[in-house]
This record gives sequence, structure tokens and C-alpha cells, in this order.
Amino acid sequence: PETSRWIQMDALQVTRLLPRLFDNDYKNSTGRLTIIAGSPWMAGAAQFNLEAAQAMGCGMIRAVVDPQIYPILQAACPHVVFHPSTQSEADFLALLSQSDAMALGSGCDHLENLDALLETVLKNSSVPVILDAAALRSLARHPEWLNQPQGEIILTPHVGEFSALCGRSVEEIQADRIRCAEEYAVSHSVTLVLKGADTLIVSPQGLRCVNKTGNPSLAKAGSGDLLTGLIAALAARGLNSMDAACCGVWLHGKAADKAIEKNALYTIHHKEILAGLDAFLMDHQ
Ligand code: APR
Ligand code: MG
Repeated sequence: PETSRWIQMDALQVTRLLPRLFDNDYKNSTGRLTIIAGSPWMAGAAQFNLEAAQAMGCGMIRAVVDPQIYPILQAACPHVVFHPSTQSEADFLALLSQSDAMALGSGCDHLENLDALLETVLKNSSVPVILDAAALRSLARHPEWLNQPQGEIILTPHVGEFSALCGRSVEEIQADRIRCAEEYAVSHSVTLVLKGADTLIVSPQGLRCVNKTGNPSLAKAGSGDLLTGLIAALAARGLNSMDAACCGVWLHGKAADKAIEKNALYTIHHKEILAGLDAFLMDHQ
């Protein structure tokens, strides 16, 4: 029974889970994703989310961003439809109702109304919601926002963010990552992605997966923002939360493994990671 709780990911399993593209697909049939990301001084995090989501095949990507960073993101990501983070709650709820998944938090450290947006999403959304970075720190201050009926939730903390969420020290978590992650995921009914080398993924039912792809070319600011975009796109395309999280983490690492076949470990940039994803998909579609 113990071993039955572990999920094993490999190239075959991941390619089986990836949604196919059909001849009659169109933008709204290949995943409608809404992303709240970036803030003044951290526009790059939003760009990484948005580029990764498109690379993962998501057809309709909308972004809610601070008006101050809109011009640069519009230029960097012409495939995205933008909305101002200052829009009315009614307009924001209308956007929610047209989304198959939502991602919040990457680079939102200086987004003034992040708490209000997060509360609105958690109180009103019935679709999968992926929370990263600043949204995790906001959730750590408002744990009661998880205590209500809602859609599936995926959290993507690194160990520092997880420490704030679960109230244990980093040392305590490192000493028993599996038990800490499982306790949190099961008791809060979330899919937890505890990042780092050997990222651990735990479902609300206590299913677990340890990821073995990836390398230290990912030990750079911005890598986590790519991962959030990948997982969110897979959720928008219809994978359940555990599959989206396991697939996204595996592909993120595999993309980095492909990237270091062609580039030095030192010089890898997010573009090479996304090219690595493309290289894997070219061989496996
Ligand atoms: N081996 C394998 N994977 C690794 C390694 C390694 N040695 N080092 C890092 N990674 C992977 C992690 O597993 C994770 O998926 O790279 C990613 C790093 O993610 P984060 O720790 O979230 O780092 P980062 O991208 O810098 O986060 C940026 O920080 O303050 C926030 O809001 C800000 O969104 C921004 C975020
Ligand atoms: Mg991060």
C-alpha cells in the first residue's frame, strides 16, 4: 500500500497525458488561461509566465497586470490580451467566468491590490487556480481563504514560501520534506508542488511524486515563473491538478536537460529552456 502512493513520471507517461491538437481546434478550445502576474520592477516574471503558457499550447491567454508595466508586456507578449489590475470587480469576475484556469502571484510583490484579487478568486472561482510567489505569501497571511468550497488549487512554493505557509522552519521541512508536504496538502485539500532539486508533488489525497528531471541551470531567478506558466497552461487545457503539476514539473526539468545538450550550464536563459521544451515535444508529438 505504501508504494501505491507514489506516482512515476517518464517521457511516455507525460506524452500520454498531453492534450492532442485536432484539425478543428480553435483558440477557445485549447485552454483559456487568465494570469495575474508581475508588478512595477518585476515585469519579467509576468513575461516568463506568459511565454511558458503559450509554449505549452494554451490558445487563449489573458493577463491582468499593473497599468505601469502594461506597455512593456504588450510589446514582449503580443499573443496576450491584457486587462488592467485596476479594473472593477465586476469586470474581473466576468474575466473569471471566461477562464478554464487561473494563475496568480509570480512577480506580484509590488501589486497593490493582490490581496483583494486573491480573495475574489478564491471566493468565486470554480476552475483550477495556481498560486505562486507573492500569492503564497498573501495566503500565508490569510489561511482562512482556503476554508471554503472552491475549485482545485495548486500551490508552487519553494521551501522558504512553504515555511511561511505551514508555519514550520526551513530546517524542520528539509529534515522531512515528504511528511511536511503530505500533511499540508491533505489537511488543506490542495495539490502542493514543493520546489527545489527533486521537486516533490503531493495531491490532496496524499498521492506523491518526486521529480528527477532538471539541473542547476534552473537555479536562476525566473525559472519558477516559467514553471507556473507551464502548469497553468496544462490545467487550462484540461489536465486534472495532479497531472498538470506532475507533467509541468517533469517537462520544466526535461526542457532544462535538453537545453544543456546545446548550451553551457552557465549561460542558459529562459529562451533556451523554452527551446528545450520545443526540442522534447518535437521528438514526442
Ligand atoms: N535542480 C533542479 N531544479 C532546480 C534547481 C536545481 N539545482 N534549482 C532550481 N530549480 C528549479 C526549482 O525546482 C523551481 O522549479 O527552478 C525553479 C526555481 O523556482 P523559484 O524558487 O520560485 O525561483 P524564481 O523563479 O526566482 O522565483 C521568482 O520570486 O519573489 C518571487 O515574485 C517573485 O515570481 C518571482 C519569483
Ligand atoms: Mg518563485
